[in-house]
Amino acid sequence: MNSLDQIVSQARADFLAAPDAAALENAKAVYLGKSGQITELMKSLGKLAPEERKAQGAVINAAKTQIENALTERRDALANAQLQARLNAEAIDVTLPGRGRGVGGIHPVMRTWQRIEEIFRSIGFDVADGPEIENDWTNFTALNSPENHPARSMQDTFYVDGHDSQGNQLLLRTHTSPMQVRYARANQPPIKVIAPGRTYRVDSDATHSPMFHQVEGLWIAENISFADLKGVYLNFVRAFFETDDLQVRFRPSYFPFTEPSAEIDIAFGSGPLKGRWLEVSGSGQVHPSVIRNMGLDPEKYIGFAFGSGLERLTMLRYGVNDLRLFYEGDLRFLKQFN
Ligand code: FA5
Ligand code: MG
Repeated sequence: MNSLDQIVSQARADFLAAPDAAALENAKAVYLGKSGQITELMKSLGKLAPEERKAQGAVINAAKTQIENALTERRDALANAQLQARLNAEAIDVTLPGRGRGVGGIHPVMRTWQRIEEIFRSIGFDVADGPEIENDWTNFTALNSPENHPARSMQDTFYVDGHDSQGNQLLLRTHTSPMQVRYARANQPPIKVIAPGRTYRVDSDATHSPMFHQVEGLWIAENISFADLKGVYLNFVRAFFETDDLQVRFRPSYFPFTEPSAEIDIAFGSGPLKGRWLEVSGSGQVHPSVIRNMGLDPEKYIGFAFGSGLERLTMLRYGVNDLRLFYEGDLRFLKQFN
């Protein structure tokens, strides 16, 4: 083995021994650097006779090429090894269980809303909804509360700048009762409908919120009596509270849009609220003036309406004593219902 062959095999061995790219570049310098062994040999060619120089130059060049090939091979091997190590380090184990996203839940008041729709649909009521921004004619006047009538002050509300196309003042509806008029003007009797939705008043305490929910019920036909209201409502609360051990009482009251009018109270036969009468709804026989504002003949049509608070029904169903809890967004409270 001549000395050039020795240099080449030594270079190969050094390159293979280099553990990383930096060590490899240092090893390279020993052979191909400015004063590397091959470089020195090249420089020495100048001292040779032309013939000899040519022959010797070819041999050195061949050795240089071999060293360069070995270097490239080792560079590639090191780069591959590094890539492989990184891939291993960053490997994703697709068999690991996912971290997941918390499953959302249905708000307790929305649960009540859904249950009410199910119950009334099952006894043939349609479900309607209407605008939260109402006009004062539909919210008050059509319901027998003329402008400046003191009955309007029972429901102070938020007025909206602006008027509708008929020039009526716009406001946030104070109850779902305007839906009685809207629905009856758009549908032919017999009318059997509930209209759940958001309502607004200038109210705020443990049992009153500035935004709350009501469900309106309306049944208009040629021969509907207070007995039907009583039957429908009793059936509803028994289905809603999932007990037959419950009584309903109609307590005389006043609403401009019903005559006679009544508050509906319920009393449970057992449980923590046993025997206490609790108000859940306003109700009454639809006033003849309202029937007229519905575009119907009060000599022919008669019916009842009720308006119940969804928060109130939800509080009774779950035993919640402060309505504001529904709107604080505290997950510790809300999670209990899911
Ligand atoms: C009315 O709103 C009538 N429109 C109900 C009605 C409909 C009577 C059809 C006759 C015929 P009242 O103001 O009492 O009535 O409200 C009805 C229910 O809404 C109350 O029993 C209560 O449960 C709920 N409610 C009223 N104000 C608030 C409030 N600020 N926060 C939460 N719930 C409320
Ligand atoms: Mg009331």
